[in-house]
Amino acid sequence: MLLPNHGANPKQLIEALGKQMPYHFIDFSENTNPFGSPAAVTQLPIVDFTKAMTHYPDPHVTELTSKLAQKNDVSENKVLVGNGAAELIFLIANFFQRKRVAIVEPAFSEYLDACQAFECTVTSIVLPPPWQLDLNLVLSAICDIDVLFLCSPNNPTGVRYELADIIDLVDEAEKQGTYVVLDEAFYDFSEDGYGLHRLVNQFSNLLIVRSLTKMFAIAGIRLGYLLANADLIEELKKRQPTWSVNGIAQQVGLTLLKEVSFVQQTVLNIHQERRRVTRLLKDLDYFVSDSAVNFYLLAERDRRDTMPMLVFLLEKGIIARHTYNFNGLNGGYLRLAVKNSECNDQLVDALSAWRKQ
Ligand SMILES: Cc1ncc(COP(=O)(O)O)c(C=O)c1O
Repeated sequence: MLLPNHGANPKQLIEALGKQMPYHFIDFSENTNPFGSPAAVTQLPIVDFTKAMTHYPDPHVTELTSKLAQKNDVSENKVLVGNGAAELIFLIANFFQRKRVAIVEPAFSEYLDACQAFECTVTSIVLPPPWQLDLNLVLSAICDIDVLFLCSPNNPTGVRYELADIIDLVDEAEKQGTYVVLDEAFYDFSEDGYGLHRLVNQFSNLLIVRSLTKMFAIAGIRLGYLLANADLIEELKKRQPTWSVNGIAQQVGLTLLKEVSFVQQTVLNIHQERRRVTRLLKDLDYFVSDSAVNFYLLAERDRRDTMPMLVFLLEKGIIARHTYNFNGLNGGYLRLAVKNSECNDQLVDALSAWRKQ
């Protein structure tokens, strides 16, 4: 049974489980903005798309890089735009090839895939529930490695680490000559929208990965960026294929950066719904992770294998993200996205039915 490595792939999941594609389903395994993309993007004039499609894009992504630098209070030479955050993770692994890497887990599986592709020696630092950053545990690993990967707010737990802990970690890592790759793909879903971008001006060992995929529901466009010291950015740029960021992505990115109230409204709606759903699920005696973002982990109190629940939900048209390929979770949890209230109600009804059967 070959379960998909990521969410948002219901077809592969359904086939792997030997089931028929339901006529109607809601994909709770996809953790992008449930309210879709801003109208400013979906209604971009077709002539703009045609122009972006028929011409070579700006190979230096000049305008978008400049706007991202302004937005993040860093200079332009500290920004690298990529074909999704995924490309940047691979460029980072390429730069650190054959080095010693540690990954704070459970975590997004691409860190491991990328580091293995570039023959890094990878060790895991597995946090136990409730998955707060155990600073002592991580610090004890830092002297033996070259690079540390961590993700906050974390995918798949939704937990956001204490800012003071991350700063202490980066500070200590710098003293030890260790780089820290901080993946903030979901930072803009947290209620204060606070990211650590300014720290890039202070710490030369910090690399911050961001994605526009999640907040703006543009998974197919592929757009992300990296913030890091200028020398590192220069090195990674050399490894990035020319024209990697296509013209449509550049244009969409410029439009999205103006969507401040869209982000605020999304955050408001998501948190209202997350709190409501969390309460309902806890009333049904489920464990729900202490998430700061637009998805959470759900489990039975005894953390028993969730495969029967995954199949039961699927048969009710609810696609959940399995957790078999997350170190430390091992299928004892399902990851579920926060959707609109109508969809969330359907999820709660299905999980209530699971309790009663
Ligand atoms: C934590 C995390 N980082 C990075 C990515 C990749 O984002 P992108 O779509 O921009 O490549 C994902 C996608 O699921 C993710 O969950």
